[in-house]
Amino acid sequence: MTDTTARLPGDPTAQAAVARMIRVDHAGEYAAVRIYQGQLATLRARGKADLLRHMLAQEQHHLATFDGLIADRRVRPTALLPVWHLAGFALGALTAALGERSAMACTVAVEETIDAHYQKQIAALDSAEPGLRATLSKFRDEELEHRDSGLAHGAEQAPAYRLLRAVIKTGCRAAIALSERI
Ligand SMILES: [Fe+2]
Ligand SMILES: [Fe+2]
Repeated sequence: MTDTTARLPGDPTAQAAVARMIRVDHAGEYAAVRIYQGQLATLRARGKADLLRHMLAQEQHHLATFDGLIADRRVRPTALLPVWHLAGFALGALTAALGERSAMACTVAVEETIDAHYQKQIAALDSAEPGLRATLSKFRDEELEHRDSGLAHGAEQAPAYRLLRAVIKTGCRAAIALSERI
């Protein structure tokens, strides 16, 4: 994110930067909902289902918040939502099919990436956006809880944990870059 501190509130460039943030965060939360739905579709009757339902409910709240911001601020959503609809669900379902610990490894990889992403956005937002900053901080805390839940439920014991985590993180970063632009 570029430095916005030299700009005045209401400056079109600053507005465009905030619109880009809302677009990509909306896309990310949309994908997060789909990932947890995919994991639940596979692990519905298993021991981790309650944890997955809890995380899914929080992601649905995050998405609803960004749905509201998209509408209030007339931000164009990413054109890639249909892609994230399928890719998010597939990522969740496939990692869950590898086992509960692989599903948790997916959670760790995704939430670590989102944590870094939100951290960068919070640092880039100036005092003109206190509400958005507070929202991002709260959501970031919840994403960190999800990461910690993944670690507490055996993510690191997943087969090929380091490789799986690296591949998913690379994919998430690519998805972020695309959703900011398209
Ligand atoms: Fe989220
Ligand atoms: Fe999350």
